[in-house]
Amino acid sequence: MSIRIKLLLSYTGMLLVSLLVFALTASLFTIAATGDIHSFRDFYKVHYQLNPLTEEEESIFLELKYLAKNEPDELMNQELLQDYDFKLKTVRAGLYVRRESNQVFESHTFNQPELEEHLPPYELDNHHIRDTFNIGERFYAYAKFDFRYSDGAKGSVYVIHERSPFGEVTRKLLPMIVVLLIGIIVIANAMLYRWITRSVVKPLNLLRSSTEHIVEGNLLFALDLRSKDEIGLLNEAFENMRKRLYESVQLRLQDEENRKELISNISHDLRTPITNIKGYIEGIRDGVADTPEKMDKYVNIIYSKTIDLDKLVDELFLYSKLDLKQIPFLFENVSIVSFLDDCMDELHYEMEEKGILLKWGERPSRDIEVVADLEKLKRAMLNIIGNAQNFMNKKDKFILISVQASPEWVTVEIQDNGMGISSEDLPHIFERFYRAERSRNSSTGGSGLGLAIARQIIEGHGGSIWVSSELGVGTSFYFTLRRTKDLGGTHTDDNPDSDHRG
Ligand SMILES: Nc1ncnc2c1ncn2[C@@H]1O[C@H](COP(=O)(O)OP(=O)(O)OP(=O)(O)O)[C@@H](O)[C@H]1O
Ligand SMILES: [Mg+2]
Repeated sequence: MSIRIKLLLSYTGMLLVSLLVFALTASLFTIAATGDIHSFRDFYKVHYQLNPLTEEEESIFLELKYLAKNEPDELMNQELLQDYDFKLKTVRAGLYVRRESNQVFESHTFNQPELEEHLPPYELDNHHIRDTFNIGERFYAYAKFDFRYSDGAKGSVYVIHERSPFGEVTRKLLPMIVVLLIGIIVIANAMLYRWITRSVVKPLNLLRSSTEHIVEGNLLFALDLRSKDEIGLLNEAFENMRKRLYESVQLRLQDEENRKELISNISHDLRTPITNIKGYIEGIRDGVADTPEKMDKYVNIIYSKTIDLDKLVDELFLYSKLDLKQIPFLFENVSIVSFLDDCMDELHYEMEEKGILLKWGERPSRDIEVVADLEKLKRAMLNIIGNAQNFMNKKDKFILISVQASPEWVTVEIQDNGMGISSEDLPHIFERFYRAERSRNSSTGGSGLGLAIARQIIEGHGGSIWVSSELGVGTSFYFTLRRTKDLGGTHTDDNPDSDHRG
């Protein structure tokens, strides 16, 4: 059974119960008021038509009726009639006596000149003794008794009571008012039903159609999150789920794209040296290398190509392991100045050969300890310095290394006066396989993985890496490392700087 039907049934049930309670209350009230169980049926009639006078008025009326039956001529005795009228006056009623068409007595209570015309005519069998009538805006209830005087003249005695117009209107409109009240209950019920179905069933339907969208693979829709009730919260949770799902699908697509690109880049980069090697081996096989010198040259080329291949495979392997976070970092406390001194010593001979001056820029006076994986940090350093030497195009070549320390971090700068990097390339150089000169067969022969690896390593240390460069002037690479704490230096993941470009 749908919620809509359940709600409809429960509201209709509630409506019937309230109507029943309404009727029951009214009947109990009547029974309590009249003390008669049958009177409920005639409640309206009995109370308002047969019994228009109060008890007090009624008892005076009965006295007058008794008099009319037994001593009718007494009903011409003005003194007696005034006595009765006085008694009636105290309860805001009045007396009227008629003999034939002549007025014998009229109470001054009402001050109503048209009273006589409106009184009902003589009727000896006294069928109709209680009723109401109105004169203009004023309403009256009466009890009447018709009799004959001793001389046979027709006499009528009336006890009249003026009623409030409001009471009279209520009496007349009572059936309509009851219908109206029941109507209000029914309408209120219908409106409540509508309100609940709109606030419960509609959002639920919306939610269901949203799940259908998701089943169909459509994640690009937004749920209406206006309501703040439980269903609103459910919709909000659903909306969050949809967003997460969308993000993860996007991420998966992106990953897929990256994987394809990676495979295509790898095959491209592997093919070049392999084609070369194949070419030279074919040359040897076909007897092109016919002298020992030529043979030597060919073999040397093949050897250097296999070295390139080896380097490439090695870089790829390292990069993918770092990317998959499969290589653990072995952190220790490293004296950064000594570490850089060692690196420079190691490269000294190679740099001298290429005519590059590798020296300190700003060297801290005392050593500073950082938390680092020595081997990986060295790899990052060599990648950066290797670039500086590969992309050098000046006559006076230099590479400067500087260290700056803040209370928590150490920043290392490697500055060169090489060819620089254009502003279009600058944001991309840390991407894998990205090389500023597009041709993949350049003499520098790089695969574009060096800086991607350096970034992985520095970020693995919890630090960051960035670059600033001016085309034709030179380039500076910066990276940060966390300083050792007094307690022995543990590694955490916060970033020291927010505007790093790495
Ligand atoms: N010091 C620098 N001066 C000028 N250009 C640079 C410098 N460092 C990097 N680049 C540019 O950034 C690109 C990416 O460098 P990266 O080290 O990642 O790759 P690569 O040196 O080409 O190849 P690999 O390092 O894998 O052998 C380089 O191809 C080069 O165009
Ligand atoms: Mg490089």
